[in-house]
Amino acid sequence: MLILGIETSCDETSVAVVEDGLSVRSNLVGTQERLHLKYGGVVPEIACRAHLESLLPILDEAMKTAGITLNDLGAVAVTTTPGLIGALLIGVTAAKALAWTLKIPLIAVHHLHAHIFAAKLEHGKAMEFPCLSLVVSGGHTSLFLSSKETRHELLGATLDDAAGEAFDKVGKLLGLGYPGGPAIDSIAREGDPARVPFPRAYLEPGSLDFSFSGLKTAVLYHYQGLVGARCNVPLPRKELADLAASFQEAVVDVLVEKTLLALRKYPVKGVALGGGVASNSRLRKRLSLALEGRHIRPYFPPPALCTDNAAIVAGLAYYKYLEGELASLEVEAAA
Ligand code: KG4
Ligand code: ZN
Repeated sequence: MLILGIETSCDETSVAVVEDGLSVRSNLVGTQERLHLKYGGVVPEIACRAHLESLLPILDEAMKTAGITLNDLGAVAVTTTPGLIGALLIGVTAAKALAWTLKIPLIAVHHLHAHIFAAKLEHGKAMEFPCLSLVVSGGHTSLFLSSKETRHELLGATLDDAAGEAFDKVGKLLGLGYPGGPAIDSIAREGDPARVPFPRAYLEPGSLDFSFSGLKTAVLYHYQGLVGARCNVPLPRKELADLAASFQEAVVDVLVEKTLLALRKYPVKGVALGGGVASNSRLRKRLSLALEGRHIRPYFPPPALCTDNAAIVAGLAYYKYLEGELASLEVEAAA
């Protein structure tokens, strides 16, 4: 069955066609990065306007790439929560209109569950449940115990900033532009991760929650210690690389440690990664090394499936469809 997926929860307008949950026929992503660049973060009003302008052209392109017409679709799926409310509403309204006019089922998808499904899209039937799922994105840092494609029990989440948010704020502070994550990942390759001993917040013993706001402040103070109270003073490249590498190492240490702690509590066979920060090269390397030593399988998606896209929405929707989990036309978007 062909399912159309629509994703507009943040700053990516994406439409995809996926066959039987795992075969991606098209997955078009219109990124708004350029529009938000000068503000150093996503501006909700600008995101909504851009979704509105690009959704239908991207839908057309997704149909053409898949080589199908709207009448070939068996269902339409859309991200309904969580995200920017105005942005979600545009995708949800379009999906409802399509489901209603084409007289096909509507399927509501949770954004974080879709991020976890990226691992399934990549590994297919080789991905075994139960597994742990770590979703690390610009808006979320959450650890789940996943019993199947559609069921995820939340074990812990960030109490303040998301990991990606910390990357973006530190990137902005260091003059690396928006989004900060890829830029930090890249320059950190030249740096010494042990140069600055930034704090790691493990919270109370046994906690599977996260906290990154203290780390962000520690980077700010360290930076001000180097340049004084002025902002946007460029650092020498080596200094910048060491700072980026040390910050990244602190984030990765906590993400890896918490995953290992969860593995001691829940003896699963694999760990899935999802969300934009899942493309971080240091996180992937450190986590795969840690898992290899414990004979736990890494279910890591390729970077293109880590960031927001609609193939993960349409893919997960197929499993919800098989379970009869359909949405009514009254389903609402929720921030
Ligand atoms: O999943 P995503 O596309 O959007 C949300 O749902 O939030 O994630 C975007 C986030 C941004 O914060 C971005 O800086 C971060 O993912 N990111 C990275 C990398 N690539 C993207 N963070 C660290 N290293 C990367 N290579
Ligand atoms: Zn996301």
